[in-house]
Amino acid sequence: MSAFYRDSNQHLTIDGVSLDDLITEFGSPLYVYSGAGLQRAFSAFQAAVAPVSGKVHFALKANSALGVIALLARRGAGADIVSVGELARALAAGIRPGDIVFSGVGKTAADVRAALTAGIGQINAESPAEIAKISAVAAAMGVTAPVALRVNVDVDAGTHAKISTGQRSTKFGISTDQREAANLYAAIHADPHIRPAGLAVHIGSQIRDLAPFERAYTALLDIANGLRREGLEVPCLDLGGGVGVDYQDASDTDFSAYGALVTRLFKDSGFALGFEPGRSIAANNGALLTEVIYVKQGDNKRFVIVDAAMNDLIRPTLYDAHHPIVTIAPPQASTGRADIVGPVCETGDYLGLDRDMPALTTGDRLAVLSAGAYGAVMSSAYNTRPPAGEVMVVDGRAHLLRAARSIDSLLADETIPEFS
Ligand code: LLP
Repeated sequence: MSAFYRDSNQHLTIDGVSLDDLITEFGSPLYVYSGAGLQRAFSAFQAAVAPVSGKVHFALKANSALGVIALLARRGAGADIVSVGELARALAAGIRPGDIVFSGVGKTAADVRAALTAGIGQINAESPAEIAKISAVAAAMGVTAPVALRVNVDVDAGTHAKISTGQRSTKFGISTDQREAANLYAAIHADPHIRPAGLAVHIGSQIRDLAPFERAYTALLDIANGLRREGLEVPCLDLGGGVGVDYQDASDTDFSAYGALVTRLFKDSGFALGFEPGRSIAANNGALLTEVIYVKQGDNKRFVIVDAAMNDLIRPTLYDAHHPIVTIAPPQASTGRADIVGPVCETGDYLGLDRDMPALTTGDRLAVLSAGAYGAVMSSAYNTRPPAGEVMVVDGRAHLLRAARSIDSLLADETIPEFS
């Protein structure tokens, strides 16, 4: 199943709502999300891990539109955050502070203070220095901080290098070599300003093979069982995110094999679990809509120049990511390959290369699929192109989640000094 399907006239829709109409109403480029699809994915993830007791924290970095967070919160989602900005979003969208987990390698004292002031459920610490900082801030505030240790279990997730976080060579987690993590865990147990919350692991993103998960989770379980044998309480194991999606056909993600793995490894372990999925909830439930500005026939190539660019969706440029690109109008036979490119002045500004495309002309509309995760959140105003708006379809109606930025609002943040 997919949130994006063609109506009886073969026009592409999102949950039956015409994408053409959405562009006409809200402009182009435009991000669109399926509320039903997001809820379906979240519920499917919850169902897959239901045999183990666990809490699912949506990784806000994948899609942090308040409307999306609030919709998932209705389904029982907590939030995995990495900044005070995301903390503010989680709270504004109605997530309970106790259901928020703060991840990331570089939390400042101000970040920790904000997290403790809000009363969040868990802070995942990634270094001895960070633990010392959390303890000091908690002491000064007269509170105890709930701290889990993110461990680095040295597992290669087998995904793109820029989104692999599990190996020892990356900046992530506390080494499990020479018992560093175990010793630190014992130390936080003895710290009066820290309440040990357990252990966390996250080895990377867009992981399509279960073997790296199994290796990482088995290593985590070993450490946790060892701590338990030493009499240390390990309230929760946070298994991170990382479940990959199909970027070829934008279909709903099947979580059953992942759920079965987690169930096999943890069902009888006695540990409560936490999860932090982002991409697998949002990616295939969103698209970036765009309009063709010009078609240009190069010497040996056709260029389809569209009004969305790398500032709107940087994944193809940054990770060589493949996003399906389809016409919103009824499909026609291909007339050959084309590069789908934006107006930004960089050769790396493309949404898709060497794609079989039908005849296209100015004003034709395209949907760049699987763009619901790490799409709008990674957009920028490069080339002073205002980031696109975001719309979500809920119960057959389109809601503007965020208006496109205006050029005026971009300039309004700036000042010109007095020059002599
Ligand atoms: N938890 C932690 C600690 C993370 O660092 C991440 C993602 C997640 C959870 C969520 O992982 P997911 O379920 O979405 O795979 N911008 C890149 C992806 C970066 C992922 C960073 N961390 C992309 O567009 O592919």
